[in-house]
Amino acid sequence: MCGIVGYLGHRDCSDVLVDTLSNLEYRGYDSAGIAVFDAQNTIQTVKAQGKLQNLRNKLEKNGRPEGHIGIGHTRWATHGEPSDINSHPHSAPRVTIVHNGIIENYQELKEFLIGEGRTFLSETDTEVVAQLLDYYYDGNPLTTIDRVMGEVSGSFALGIMFMDFPDRIYAVRRESPLIVGVADGETFIASDVTAILQYTKNYYLLEHDEIATLTKDSISFVDKRLVPIEKELKVADWDKEAAQKGGYAHFMIKEINEQPNAIMTTVNPRIKDGLPNLEECGLTLEMIREFKSITVVACGTAMHAGLVGKYVIEGIARVPVTVDIASEFRYRNPIIGEGDLVIIISQSGETADSLAALRLAKQRGAKVLAIVNAKGSSIAREADMVIYTLAGPEIAVASTKAYITQISVMYLFAFELALAKDTVSVAECKRLTKALQQMPEAVQYVIDTVDETCKFVGSQLITAESLLYIGRGLDYALSMEGSLKLKEVSYIHSESYAAGELKHGTISLIDDDMPVIAVATQSDLMEKTISNVVEVKSRGAKVILVCTDACAAKIKDGIADYMITIPHTDELLMPITAVVPLQILAYYTSINRGANPDQPKNLAKSVTVE
Ligand code: F6R
Repeated sequence: MCGIVGYLGHRDCSDVLVDTLSNLEYRGYDSAGIAVFDAQNTIQTVKAQGKLQNLRNKLEKNGRPEGHIGIGHTRWATHGEPSDINSHPHSAPRVTIVHNGIIENYQELKEFLIGEGRTFLSETDTEVVAQLLDYYYDGNPLTTIDRVMGEVSGSFALGIMFMDFPDRIYAVRRESPLIVGVADGETFIASDVTAILQYTKNYYLLEHDEIATLTKDSISFVDKRLVPIEKELKVADWDKEAAQKGGYAHFMIKEINEQPNAIMTTVNPRIKDGLPNLEECGLTLEMIREFKSITVVACGTAMHAGLVGKYVIEGIARVPVTVDIASEFRYRNPIIGEGDLVIIISQSGETADSLAALRLAKQRGAKVLAIVNAKGSSIAREADMVIYTLAGPEIAVASTKAYITQISVMYLFAFELALAKDTVSVAECKRLTKALQQMPEAVQYVIDTVDETCKFVGSQLITAESLLYIGRGLDYALSMEGSLKLKEVSYIHSESYAAGELKHGTISLIDDDMPVIAVATQSDLMEKTISNVVEVKSRGAKVILVCTDACAAKIKDGIADYMITIPHTDELLMPITAVVPLQILAYYTSINRGANPDQPKNLAKSVTVE
């Protein structure tokens, strides 16, 4: 999604803006721009379609705006194609703004403004807000912003510069995230704190409909009634190194390598006397025991983590779990109410559909537990209880370490639930918990041993146009994530099927142009999956089999074209290690096809609009 930055201080503003924007590249974008107050206090704007490098080249060629106060933006096109004109910042005579979000009633506002004699350069909803601010401008930025906020509907985070106030920037948000950073004699705005970590770790979280006024030496806030408010200064616990590549070619592979540590950091503090303990988030055994139903709601990879959770919870705690896609849940009048538990899983904690699902669940009286990576995000703040995945900042668009920590938390939750429901003994729960604590080592081993094979297999997939992932049980839940990973970073079409479903239609697609990736880590289902492998192979498919060493020892040579083997660990926990080759395979396939795995086209890291 779009990224917003703003700077006030002593440094060269153009440099800081481009620098901080580069830290937001991971959010996904198709154009970028900056606007800076120059020495004459006029606003100089430079924008360029495409990557930040295009903006850098333009600044180099045409000269950079010289100044110390300005705003910047990376745009992910919604209204109007990616182009220089549609890029932000957008201006009206006395106002220049950057915007993240969607103004839902922009069309009617635009018609009104056109009727008032205003003209528009771009097709964006953002320019409507700039014009509206200018139209209602009464010499007082706060009352003007307030008036406009009363007129617009939708989601937005805005950075605003008024020509008459060249020493300040205004910031406001509704739904879309925005933080305000502070250092000595410098202030910042940004869509998230990773953008400014190299300058400061101190920041304020702007809440809905609050307005911030920044000068280089001061920050003040008002609420929606324009009453001054005090806000708590927060300190980011992420280092600037965590948001940098640190010698790796891409964030995606760096984050895959960070997984052992991410699991350890997430799991270990939640274990007491050898058993999972989630009391820190307010979940006691008594509460867990009483829930009438469990529904997991999330999007994309986070939803896939919920699917693994379903298999695990149902498997050991014998409690039925529904997993729903947030965009479906929110519009299908779900049967949820008092006594039910809704688990929202989200890396960013800002996904619009997941947030809407959370609000709906709460409205209906359900208790909401959020499993979230970004501290202080909207989902974390609005849920009744939160378990943070402590994966550190995830920068690559394709989620890897967030997924592995999300499923780790689902395991902790499932074990605790099983204890509460008396479906496992304390001894068995301790054994499972210990096995979970050994996962970082097992994941490290897999990272170290599968790399070369995945690189080679990835090189064999370059020309594939479409492929299938198959698996059964937990392997099916996992293969959904494998398939998403591959398609999002390599642009090869892929689907995941329950292996037993193939015969009900999909097998008609199989021929020598359709590689199949089969996942077989569960010994009780292995024979069945292997027969599916034989069926697709005999119809011409090239088969890549991801299986345990125990499985590999049992099957005949030649059953698969390529084998990626991983050590056999506790079978319930196999998704934690088995996801690793699927991630690495997706990574190398992307590179082999000349794509940039960190910034897949059309995708955004944090989907803050519907
Ligand atoms: C895929 C991916 C997405 C996200 C989804 C939800 O690699 O990252 O599918 O999982 O957009 O995002 P969060 O977890 O931030 O709610």
